[in-house]
Amino acid sequence: MSESVLSEIVAAGVVQITMNRPDRKNALDRASYAGLIAAIAAAEADDAIRAILLTGAGGCFTSGNDIKDFAMAAAAGEGPRVAIDFLDAISTAKKPIVAAVEGFAVGIGTTMLLHCDLAFAGSGASFRLPFVTLGLSPEGGSSYLLPLVAGSKKAAELLMLGEAFDAGTAAGAGLVNAVVPEGTALEHGLAKAKALAALPPQSVALTKMLLKRGSAAAVAETIATEAHHFGERLRSAEAMAAFAAFLKK
Ligand code: COA
Repeated sequence: MSESVLSEIVAAGVVQITMNRPDRKNALDRASYAGLIAAIAAAEADDAIRAILLTGAGGCFTSGNDIKDFAMAAAAGEGPRVAIDFLDAISTAKKPIVAAVEGFAVGIGTTMLLHCDLAFAGSGASFRLPFVTLGLSPEGGSSYLLPLVAGSKKAAELLMLGEAFDAGTAAGAGLVNAVVPEGTALEHGLAKAKALAALPPQSVALTKMLLKRGSAAAVAETIATEAHHFGERLRSAEAMAAFAAFLKK
């Protein structure tokens, strides 16, 4: 498993998966996505694991896709394949996933929360969906799921304006279950992951399947459609200019 993603058993039946590039605010490069996919697959395959706790190192969830990787993919004429593979993995995982968010949750750092069963944010957490500001377009099934959980006006505000928003707004938009005191999201997430791990696993899995069943096909179709447009936007002049501006800073 890559160093940029850590995976460890932190309680009976609970694996903690940690995005771990703190000097890059846990930006997700290709190795990170591969690490996340492998960690989820390992958790899914291990009968002893009953809940997944997802978090980021160094008081930060993740600053989203590594913009250097975006720029390299764009220059090579490639799409965001490994990110899509990660989204497919997290959106179809059968075991419950609990997210613990502190610091920044940007881009896919916010959209991946739509696929977690429970999520807790420290009061200082900051969220942002800057796809349009970067010359890109929504990903992660967010163009379907965000209107569903937040309402169409809120989804348009967050996805079109691309402004940062706080933990209270994230809770109001249905992205997290609760806002907890800064620095305690992991503790809260672990408590809920332990609670899930202590429940009858087949019943938990069945409940998760039933909760997702109604939207599963639409989510998969949306992720694929968004990926097509996102791949085209990655190579657009608007996006390339935005990446260059960020990397020049
Ligand atoms: N991709 C690549 N590098 C990133 C990154 C990303 N998504 N996010 C942060 N970094 C790098 C910064 O360039 C900086 O590098 P440096 O130390 O060589 O200057 C380092 O990580 C620390 O980030 P910094 O910007 O100094 O931290 P901050 O606390 O001032 O701001 C963020 C944090 C997350 C608000 C800011 O880094 C940011 O906006 N990042 C880009 C987020 C983004 O647009 N993601 C893509 C979404 S589709």
